[in-house]
Amino acid sequence: MYLTKEEEAILGGEQGETRQELLDILVAIGTVFGAEKMVPIRSAQVSGASYKTIGEWGLCWLSHLDATATVPAVLNPIGMDRTRYEEMEISADFAKKQLEVINAYKKLGIELACTCTPYYLHETRFGDHLAWSESSAVSYANSVIGARTNREGGPSALAAAIIGKTPAYGLHCTKNRLPQLIIEVKNAPGTPDQAWYGALGFLAGRIAGAKIPLFTNIRPDDDSLKALGAAMAASGAVALYHVAGVTPEAGRPGDLPEPDERHIIDAGEISALFADTTVDAVAIGCPHCSIRELESLASLLEGKRVLKPLYIFAARNLIESAGALTSRIEASGAFVFADTCMVVSPAMERFSAIMVNSGKALAYIPTMCGAVARIGTTKECIAEACKR
Ligand code: F3S
Repeated sequence: MYLTKEEEAILGGEQGETRQELLDILVAIGTVFGAEKMVPIRSAQVSGASYKTIGEWGLCWLSHLDATATVPAVLNPIGMDRTRYEEMEISADFAKKQLEVINAYKKLGIELACTCTPYYLHETRFGDHLAWSESSAVSYANSVIGARTNREGGPSALAAAIIGKTPAYGLHCTKNRLPQLIIEVKNAPGTPDQAWYGALGFLAGRIAGAKIPLFTNIRPDDDSLKALGAAMAASGAVALYHVAGVTPEAGRPGDLPEPDERHIIDAGEISALFADTTVDAVAIGCPHCSIRELESLASLLEGKRVLKPLYIFAARNLIESAGALTSRIEASGAFVFADTCMVVSPAMERFSAIMVNSGKALAYIPTMCGAVARIGTTKECIAEACKR
Protein backbone atom coordinates (compact mmCIF):
# COMPACT_ATOMS: atom_id res chain seq x y z
CA MET A 1 0.00 0.00 0.00
CA TYR A 2 1.42 3.37 -1.03
CA LEU A 3 1.90 5.81 1.86
CA THR A 4 2.76 9.50 1.62
CA LYS A 5 5.74 10.93 3.48
CA GLU A 6 3.38 12.39 6.09
CA GLU A 7 1.66 9.03 6.60
CA GLU A 8 5.08 7.36 6.99
CA ALA A 9 5.96 9.97 9.61
CA ILE A 10 2.72 9.32 11.54
CA LEU A 11 3.44 5.59 11.48
CA GLY A 12 6.93 6.37 12.75
CA GLY A 13 5.39 8.03 15.81
CA GLU A 14 6.31 11.62 14.89
CA GLN A 15 2.78 12.88 15.64
CA GLY A 16 2.17 11.02 18.89
CA GLU A 17 1.21 7.55 20.00
CA THR A 18 -2.54 7.84 19.36
CA ARG A 19 -2.20 8.95 15.72
CA GLN A 20 0.41 6.22 15.24
CA GLU A 21 -1.88 3.54 16.74
CA LEU A 22 -4.91 4.70 14.72
CA LEU A 23 -3.13 4.96 11.37
CA ASP A 24 -1.70 1.53 12.06
CA ILE A 25 -5.30 0.20 12.30
CA LEU A 26 -6.23 1.84 8.97
CA VAL A 27 -3.14 0.57 7.17
CA ALA A 28 -3.75 -2.96 8.47
CA ILE A 29 -7.35 -2.86 7.17
CA GLY A 30 -6.23 -1.38 3.85
CA THR A 31 -3.58 -4.06 3.44
CA VAL A 32 -6.04 -6.89 4.16
CA PHE A 33 -8.57 -5.52 1.64
CA GLY A 34 -6.03 -4.63 -1.05
CA ALA A 35 -6.25 -0.81 -0.89
CA GLU A 36 -3.60 0.89 -3.02
CA LYS A 37 -3.55 4.10 -0.97
CA MET A 38 -5.36 6.21 1.63
CA VAL A 39 -8.01 8.69 0.47
CA PRO A 40 -8.98 11.96 2.27
CA ILE A 41 -12.52 11.94 3.69
CA ARG A 42 -15.10 14.71 3.99
CA SER A 43 -16.59 13.40 7.26
CA ALA A 44 -16.78 10.48 9.66
CA GLN A 45 -19.64 8.93 11.61
CA VAL A 46 -18.54 6.89 14.59
CA SER A 47 -20.44 3.93 16.07
CA GLY A 48 -19.66 2.19 19.34
CA ALA A 49 -21.35 4.97 21.29
CA SER A 50 -23.89 3.21 23.51
CA TYR A 51 -22.56 1.88 26.79
CA LYS A 52 -25.04 -1.00 26.21
CA THR A 53 -22.95 -2.13 23.22
CA ILE A 54 -19.34 -1.15 24.08
CA GLY A 55 -19.32 -1.81 27.85
CA GLU A 56 -16.34 -1.23 30.17
CA TRP A 57 -13.62 -2.41 27.76
CA GLY A 58 -14.75 -0.02 25.04
CA LEU A 59 -14.83 2.87 27.50
CA CYS A 60 -11.35 1.96 28.72
CA TRP A 61 -9.92 1.94 25.14
CA LEU A 62 -11.49 5.32 24.31
CA SER A 63 -10.21 6.90 27.51
CA HIS A 64 -6.55 6.16 26.72
CA LEU A 65 -6.59 7.91 23.32
CA ASP A 66 -5.08 11.39 23.05
CA ALA A 67 -5.75 13.16 19.72
CA THR A 68 -8.47 15.20 17.99
CA ALA A 69 -10.63 14.66 14.92
CA THR A 70 -9.38 16.51 11.84
CA VAL A 71 -12.62 16.29 9.81
CA PRO A 72 -16.28 16.79 10.86
CA ALA A 73 -17.18 13.67 12.84
CA VAL A 74 -20.56 12.76 14.32
CA LEU A 75 -21.30 10.19 17.01
CA ASN A 76 -23.87 7.41 16.50
CA PRO A 77 -26.92 7.11 18.85
CA ILE A 78 -26.14 6.40 22.50
CA GLY A 79 -28.19 4.51 25.08
CA MET A 80 -30.29 7.44 26.29
CA ASP A 81 -31.36 11.05 25.71
CA ARG A 82 -28.54 12.77 27.53
CA THR A 83 -30.76 15.50 29.00
CA ARG A 84 -33.98 13.47 29.55
CA TYR A 85 -32.74 10.07 30.63
CA GLU A 86 -34.82 10.08 33.81
CA GLU A 87 -38.01 10.34 31.71
CA MET A 88 -36.75 7.27 29.82
CA GLU A 89 -36.45 5.46 33.18
CA ILE A 90 -32.74 4.81 32.61
CA SER A 91 -30.89 3.64 35.73
CA ALA A 92 -28.47 6.07 37.40
CA ASP A 93 -25.60 3.57 37.01
CA PHE A 94 -26.13 3.23 33.25
CA ALA A 95 -26.51 7.01 32.85
CA LYS A 96 -23.20 7.63 34.67
CA LYS A 97 -21.32 5.21 32.42
CA GLN A 98 -23.01 6.51 29.26
CA LEU A 99 -22.01 10.09 30.13
CA GLU A 100 -18.41 8.91 30.62
CA VAL A 101 -18.47 7.39 27.12
CA ILE A 102 -19.70 10.57 25.45
CA ASN A 103 -17.22 12.70 27.40
CA ALA A 104 -14.42 10.46 26.10
CA TYR A 105 -15.64 11.04 22.53
CA LYS A 106 -15.98 14.80 23.16
CA LYS A 107 -12.30 14.94 24.22
CA LEU A 108 -11.45 13.35 20.87
CA GLY A 109 -13.29 16.11 19.01
CA ILE A 110 -16.29 14.00 17.98
CA GLU A 111 -19.52 16.01 17.68
CA LEU A 112 -22.11 14.70 20.13
CA ALA A 113 -24.95 14.82 17.60
CA CYS A 114 -25.56 11.13 18.43
CA THR A 115 -27.50 10.29 15.30
CA CYS A 116 -27.73 7.75 12.50
CA THR A 117 -28.79 10.53 10.10
CA PRO A 118 -25.60 12.66 9.85
CA TYR A 119 -26.65 13.64 6.31
CA TYR A 120 -29.28 15.98 7.83
CA LEU A 121 -26.54 17.85 9.73
CA HIS A 122 -23.50 18.12 7.46
CA GLU A 123 -23.60 18.66 3.74
CA THR A 124 -22.65 15.41 2.01
CA ARG A 125 -22.26 15.43 -1.76
CA PHE A 126 -22.12 13.03 -4.67
CA GLY A 127 -18.61 11.54 -4.95
CA ASP A 128 -17.48 12.52 -1.42
CA HIS A 129 -15.34 9.91 0.32
CA LEU A 130 -16.57 9.24 3.88
CA ALA A 131 -15.87 6.90 6.79
CA TRP A 132 -19.32 6.23 8.25
CA SER A 133 -20.19 3.25 10.37
CA GLU A 134 -23.92 3.02 11.12
CA SER A 135 -25.40 0.67 8.52
CA SER A 136 -28.44 2.77 7.53
CA ALA A 137 -26.31 5.93 7.25
CA VAL A 138 -23.81 4.04 5.09
CA SER A 139 -26.62 2.81 2.84
CA TYR A 140 -28.13 6.32 2.51
CA ALA A 141 -24.76 7.95 1.79
CA ASN A 142 -23.83 5.43 -0.90
CA SER A 143 -27.21 4.91 -2.51
CA VAL A 144 -29.25 8.10 -2.14
CA ILE A 145 -26.46 10.68 -2.15
CA GLY A 146 -23.89 8.84 -4.28
CA ALA A 147 -21.10 9.45 -1.75
CA ARG A 148 -18.61 6.63 -1.07
CA THR A 149 -18.13 4.79 2.18
CA ASN A 150 -17.51 1.27 3.36
CA ARG A 151 -19.33 0.18 6.49
CA GLU A 152 -16.71 1.07 9.07
CA GLY A 153 -16.41 -0.45 12.51
CA GLY A 154 -16.34 1.97 15.47
CA PRO A 155 -12.52 1.94 15.84
CA SER A 156 -11.81 2.36 12.11
CA ALA A 157 -14.32 5.24 11.79
CA LEU A 158 -12.75 6.92 14.83
CA ALA A 159 -9.28 6.37 13.36
CA ALA A 160 -10.41 7.90 10.06
CA ALA A 161 -11.93 10.89 11.90
CA ILE A 162 -8.63 11.58 13.61
CA ILE A 163 -6.32 10.87 10.64
CA GLY A 164 -8.74 12.47 8.12
CA LYS A 165 -8.32 9.59 5.67
CA THR A 166 -9.53 6.06 5.02
CA PRO A 167 -8.08 3.19 2.94
CA ALA A 168 -9.39 3.31 -0.64
CA TYR A 169 -10.96 -0.12 -1.20
CA GLY A 170 -14.46 -1.60 -1.55
CA LEU A 171 -17.18 0.98 -2.21
CA HIS A 172 -14.62 3.79 -2.61
CA CYS A 173 -13.80 2.26 -6.02
CA THR A 174 -16.18 2.75 -8.99
CA LYS A 175 -15.77 -0.84 -10.23
CA ASN A 176 -17.21 -2.19 -6.95
CA ARG A 177 -20.42 -0.12 -7.11
CA LEU A 178 -22.22 -1.94 -9.93
CA PRO A 179 -25.45 -3.87 -9.31
CA GLN A 180 -25.15 -7.62 -8.80
CA LEU A 181 -28.83 -8.60 -8.90
CA ILE A 182 -32.15 -7.16 -10.02
CA ILE A 183 -35.18 -7.04 -7.74
CA GLU A 184 -38.35 -6.42 -9.69
CA VAL A 185 -41.25 -5.28 -7.54
CA LYS A 186 -44.66 -6.38 -8.80
CA ASN A 187 -48.04 -4.76 -8.06
CA ALA A 188 -46.67 -1.91 -5.90
CA PRO A 189 -49.49 0.38 -4.68
CA GLY A 190 -49.66 3.96 -6.06
CA THR A 191 -48.08 5.91 -3.21
CA PRO A 192 -47.01 3.48 -0.50
CA ASP A 193 -46.22 4.60 3.07
CA GLN A 194 -42.55 4.51 4.01
CA ALA A 195 -43.29 1.50 6.24
CA TRP A 196 -44.17 -0.38 3.03
CA TYR A 197 -40.67 0.40 1.73
CA GLY A 198 -39.24 -0.71 5.08
CA ALA A 199 -41.08 -4.02 4.71
CA LEU A 200 -39.86 -4.34 1.10
CA GLY A 201 -36.30 -3.76 2.37
CA PHE A 202 -36.81 -6.38 5.09
CA LEU A 203 -37.60 -8.99 2.40
CA ALA A 204 -35.04 -7.72 -0.14
CA GLY A 205 -32.17 -7.76 2.37
CA ARG A 206 -32.76 -11.48 2.93
CA ILE A 207 -32.45 -12.07 -0.81
CA ALA A 208 -29.50 -9.76 -1.46
CA GLY A 209 -27.32 -10.58 1.56
CA ALA A 210 -24.24 -8.41 1.02
CA LYS A 211 -24.75 -7.98 -2.76
CA ILE A 212 -25.77 -4.73 -4.50
CA PRO A 213 -29.39 -4.84 -5.72
CA LEU A 214 -30.95 -2.79 -8.51
CA PHE A 215 -34.71 -2.25 -7.94
CA THR A 216 -37.16 -1.73 -10.75
CA ASN A 217 -40.84 -0.59 -10.74
CA ILE A 218 -40.72 1.58 -7.60
CA ARG A 219 -40.54 5.39 -7.14
CA PRO A 220 -39.66 6.05 -3.48
CA ASP A 221 -39.07 9.56 -2.10
CA ASP A 222 -36.06 10.30 0.14
CA ASP A 223 -37.72 9.19 3.41
CA SER A 224 -38.84 5.95 1.78
CA LEU A 225 -35.34 5.37 0.33
CA LYS A 226 -34.04 5.83 3.88
CA ALA A 227 -36.48 3.20 5.15
CA LEU A 228 -35.71 0.78 2.29
CA GLY A 229 -31.93 0.96 2.71
CA ALA A 230 -32.01 0.77 6.52
CA ALA A 231 -34.10 -2.41 6.42
CA MET A 232 -31.84 -4.12 3.84
CA ALA A 233 -28.79 -3.27 5.94
CA ALA A 234 -30.43 -5.03 8.88
CA SER A 235 -32.05 -8.13 7.35
CA GLY A 236 -29.06 -8.51 5.00
CA ALA A 237 -25.80 -6.57 4.82
CA VAL A 238 -26.58 -4.25 1.91
CA ALA A 239 -24.38 -1.13 1.96
CA LEU A 240 -25.33 0.16 -1.51
CA TYR A 241 -28.41 -0.28 -3.69
CA HIS A 242 -29.75 1.36 -6.81
CA VAL A 243 -33.32 2.19 -7.85
CA ALA A 244 -33.76 2.51 -11.61
CA GLY A 245 -34.68 6.05 -12.53
CA VAL A 246 -34.40 7.31 -8.94
CA THR A 247 -30.96 6.99 -7.27
CA PRO A 248 -28.04 9.01 -8.66
CA GLU A 249 -25.94 6.16 -10.04
CA ALA A 250 -28.94 4.58 -11.81
CA GLY A 251 -30.38 7.81 -13.19
CA ARG A 252 -31.17 6.82 -16.78
CA PRO A 253 -32.06 3.50 -18.38
CA GLY A 254 -28.80 1.91 -19.50
CA ASP A 255 -26.67 3.86 -16.98
CA LEU A 256 -25.85 0.57 -15.28
CA PRO A 257 -25.21 -2.88 -16.77
CA GLU A 258 -28.06 -5.30 -15.95
CA PRO A 259 -26.94 -8.34 -13.93
CA ASP A 260 -28.20 -11.82 -14.82
CA GLU A 261 -29.47 -12.67 -11.32
CA ARG A 262 -33.15 -11.66 -11.04
CA HIS A 263 -35.75 -11.90 -8.27
CA ILE A 264 -39.35 -10.81 -8.00
CA ILE A 265 -41.02 -9.51 -4.85
CA ASP A 266 -44.80 -9.22 -5.11
CA ALA A 267 -46.73 -6.63 -3.08
CA GLY A 268 -48.69 -9.54 -1.55
CA GLU A 269 -45.53 -10.77 0.23
CA ILE A 270 -45.02 -7.27 1.64
CA SER A 271 -48.64 -6.98 2.85
CA ALA A 272 -48.27 -10.31 4.69
CA LEU A 273 -45.69 -8.70 7.02
CA PHE A 274 -48.30 -6.21 8.30
CA ALA A 275 -49.83 -8.67 10.79
CA ASP A 276 -52.07 -7.56 13.66
CA THR A 277 -50.45 -8.20 17.07
CA THR A 278 -51.20 -6.67 20.48
CA VAL A 279 -48.41 -4.28 21.52
CA ASP A 280 -47.60 -2.38 24.69
CA ALA A 281 -45.56 0.45 23.11
CA VAL A 282 -45.04 2.23 19.79
CA ALA A 283 -41.70 3.55 18.51
CA ILE A 284 -41.01 5.72 15.45
CA GLY A 285 -37.71 7.08 14.15
CA CYS A 286 -35.54 4.18 12.97
CA PRO A 287 -33.57 5.72 11.26
CA HIS A 288 -33.99 9.05 13.04
CA CYS A 289 -36.87 11.18 11.74
CA SER A 290 -36.46 13.92 9.15
CA ILE A 291 -38.22 17.29 9.56
CA ARG A 292 -40.83 16.10 7.06
CA GLU A 293 -41.56 13.03 9.18
CA LEU A 294 -41.84 15.17 12.35
CA GLU A 295 -44.29 17.46 10.51
CA SER A 296 -46.38 14.49 9.47
CA LEU A 297 -46.37 13.10 13.04
CA ALA A 298 -47.42 16.49 14.46
CA SER A 299 -50.39 16.57 12.05
CA LEU A 300 -51.40 12.98 12.78
CA LEU A 301 -51.30 13.62 16.56
CA GLU A 302 -53.13 16.98 16.48
CA GLY A 303 -55.92 16.94 19.11
CA LYS A 304 -55.18 13.30 20.10
CA ARG A 305 -54.02 11.77 23.39
CA VAL A 306 -51.75 8.72 23.42
CA LEU A 307 -52.72 5.90 25.79
CA LYS A 308 -49.63 3.74 25.24
CA PRO A 309 -45.99 4.87 25.41
CA LEU A 310 -45.15 6.48 22.05
CA TYR A 311 -41.45 7.19 21.63
CA ILE A 312 -40.20 9.16 18.63
CA PHE A 313 -36.47 9.49 17.89
CA ALA A 314 -34.57 12.18 15.98
CA ALA A 315 -31.25 14.02 16.02
CA ARG A 316 -30.90 16.66 18.75
CA ASN A 317 -30.05 19.47 16.30
CA LEU A 318 -33.16 18.68 14.27
CA ILE A 319 -35.42 18.55 17.34
CA GLU A 320 -34.07 21.86 18.59
CA SER A 321 -34.47 23.54 15.21
CA ALA A 322 -38.06 22.26 15.05
CA GLY A 323 -39.02 23.26 18.62
CA ALA A 324 -42.65 24.12 17.80
CA LEU A 325 -43.16 20.77 16.04
CA THR A 326 -41.78 18.90 19.05
CA SER A 327 -44.16 20.76 21.38
CA ARG A 328 -47.13 19.90 19.15
CA ILE A 329 -46.15 16.22 19.16
CA GLU A 330 -45.51 16.09 22.92
CA ALA A 331 -48.88 17.80 23.66
CA SER A 332 -50.37 14.38 22.85
CA GLY A 333 -48.35 12.67 25.59
CA ALA A 334 -45.78 11.24 23.13
CA PHE A 335 -42.06 11.76 23.74
CA VAL A 336 -39.56 13.02 21.18
CA PHE A 337 -36.16 11.82 22.35
CA ALA A 338 -32.75 12.89 21.04
CA ASP A 339 -29.36 11.13 21.05
CA THR A 340 -30.68 7.58 21.25
CA CYS A 341 -32.70 4.95 19.43
CA MET A 342 -35.21 2.20 20.05
CA VAL A 343 -32.58 -0.50 19.53
CA VAL A 344 -29.55 0.71 21.48
CA SER A 345 -31.42 2.11 24.50
CA PRO A 346 -32.12 -0.20 27.45
CA ALA A 347 -35.35 1.83 27.91
CA MET A 348 -37.13 -0.37 25.34
CA GLU A 349 -36.28 -3.63 27.10
CA ARG A 350 -39.22 -3.29 29.51
CA PHE A 351 -41.79 -3.74 26.71
CA SER A 352 -42.88 -7.14 25.47
CA ALA A 353 -44.26 -6.11 22.05
CA ILE A 354 -43.44 -2.93 20.13
CA MET A 355 -45.12 -1.51 17.02
CA VAL A 356 -42.85 0.29 14.55
CA ASN A 357 -43.04 1.78 11.04
CA SER A 358 -39.51 0.58 10.22
CA GLY A 359 -38.25 -2.56 8.49
CA LYS A 360 -34.92 -2.18 10.26
CA ALA A 361 -36.57 -2.08 13.70
CA LEU A 362 -38.72 -5.06 12.65
CA ALA A 363 -35.47 -6.99 12.07
CA TYR A 364 -33.56 -5.80 15.16
CA ILE A 365 -36.07 -5.41 18.01
CA PRO A 366 -36.56 -9.15 18.64
CA THR A 367 -32.82 -9.77 19.07
CA MET A 368 -31.64 -6.45 20.52
CA CYS A 369 -34.59 -5.65 22.83
CA GLY A 370 -36.03 -9.13 23.42
CA ALA A 371 -39.52 -7.97 22.34
CA VAL A 372 -41.95 -8.97 19.60
CA ALA A 373 -41.94 -6.42 16.76
CA ARG A 374 -44.96 -5.51 14.63
CA ILE A 375 -44.78 -3.25 11.57
CA GLY A 376 -47.53 -0.81 10.57
CA THR A 377 -47.85 2.36 8.54
CA THR A 378 -47.17 5.61 10.37
CA LYS A 379 -50.94 6.26 10.56
CA GLU A 380 -51.53 2.78 12.01
CA CYS A 381 -48.76 3.34 14.57
CA ILE A 382 -50.41 6.56 15.77
CA ALA A 383 -53.85 4.89 15.88
CA GLU A 384 -52.37 2.05 17.96
CA ALA A 385 -50.68 4.46 20.38
CA CYS A 386 -54.06 6.15 20.96
CA LYS A 387 -55.79 2.81 21.79
CA ARG A 388 -55.90 1.17 25.23
FE1 F3S B 1 -30.74 4.46 13.75
FE2 F3S B 1 -30.98 2.94 15.83
FE3 F3S B 1 -32.46 2.48 13.78
S1 F3S B 1 -29.10 3.67 15.01
S2 F3S B 1 -31.24 3.12 12.08
S3 F3S B 1 -32.53 4.33 15.04
S4 F3S B 1 -31.46 0.94 15.00
